[in-house]
Amino acid sequence: MKYLTLKVIIWLEIILLVGCQKENIQAPAPKDEFYSLNLPPHFPQPEIPEDNLLTKNRVELGRLLFSDPILSRDSTVSCASCHKSELAFADNRSISPGVQGRLGKRNAPSLLYRAYATSLNWDGGVPTLELQALVPIQDHAELDMDFGTLVERLKRHPRYPALFQAAYQTEPNEAGIVKALAAFQRTLIKGTSDYDRYLLGDSSALSPSAKRGKDLFFSETAECFHCHSGLFFTDETFQNNGLYAEYKDQGRFLITGRERDKGKFRVPSLRNVALTAPYMHDGSIPTLEAVIEHYMKGGAKHPAKSPLIRPFTLTPQQKEDLINFLKSLTDK
Ligand code: HEC
Ligand code: HEC
Repeated sequence: MKYLTLKVIIWLEIILLVGCQKENIQAPAPKDEFYSLNLPPHFPQPEIPEDNLLTKNRVELGRLLFSDPILSRDSTVSCASCHKSELAFADNRSISPGVQGRLGKRNAPSLLYRAYATSLNWDGGVPTLELQALVPIQDHAELDMDFGTLVERLKRHPRYPALFQAAYQTEPNEAGIVKALAAFQRTLIKGTSDYDRYLLGDSSALSPSAKRGKDLFFSETAECFHCHSGLFFTDETFQNNGLYAEYKDQGRFLITGRERDKGKFRVPSLRNVALTAPYMHDGSIPTLEAVIEHYMKGGAKHPAKSPLIRPFTLTPQQKEDLINFLKSLTDK
């Protein structure tokens, strides 16, 4: 019920935000400069919305807001409390506590490479980073804040009014807050893993074991690459990977209401996966080894389970190889 109410609020706000965009907050401020992403050569240019082009002041404002507990009702929790920079902006707790230790129901995912994502959250319920930021700020189990109070706090703050002017030529407002957070998050791109060096032609960047693991990952035995495909190891689809016979959280079904979407979740990127334990939408699998064992068993019986999830056998050496390949996806 709470979830539905939040959904309605968010859609109302989408309408509001579209209205705000007419208030001329898209033009970079006079003394601002464009922000260059410095992408590695094998990375495509992500799509940046026209009304929130990346500038230095916008990214800097977003970076400050991201780790400022001023965004939470009791000023104790920030985005960075659950998305820790040293853990690829994920969390090592299955469920991260929000204000007053309140617990939600899902595991905090990594925020790296979100500029390339075609939908956000485990159920893909939100299309853009701007709109996504509305969710944690207001969610009862996360920052539990209302925008009226937040905007007033920022207006009274000694530094934020000038920073909003410098970034969006406006006093602190809702649209500026979510745009700055989105701008900052779009810069979280690295491409500095051993596997990236390997892709760029340094064949010694992967150990012999990681190379064997790569061949397994891309083999029809393990099938991993069918879903975890491409440069970011996700085809951006929603799949049921047989985690449960009965799911407490129905994932994609909550968005579409279609029976066949029960227990489906967005295929997560595997970049930096060695840093983002525990795993899955609910943080229920503690280690990479246990994840591989889950897949080897072929998962639980579920009518919506993907036909690609079926039992297979690996020797202990092959398991280790596969883990070493996954570890090679960690950015330096
Ligand atoms: C209490 C912990 C917590 C806080 C605080 C928090 N998040 Fe999250 N974040 C999560 C969880 C859990 C999810 C997964 C939500 C879902 O799938 O429904 C998530 C998902 C996301 C996603 C989607 C990532 C993806 O790959 O789909 C983005 C983007 C994000 N958060 C940004 C933020 C920002 C920006 C803030 C601060 C305004 C923030 N988060 C605050 C826990 C948190
Ligand atoms: C049918 C598509 C599919 C196949 C095949 C598949 N996965 Fe997944 N994978 C998913 C989905 C969907 C999730 C998230 C499921 C959930 O949270 O309930 C996931 C989650 C994961 C996670 C957890 C990531 C995180 O951040 O929590 C890892 C690690 C992983 N898969 C590795 C693999 C490996 C290794 C293989 C091959 C042995 C593989 N996957 C095969 C779809 C697939």
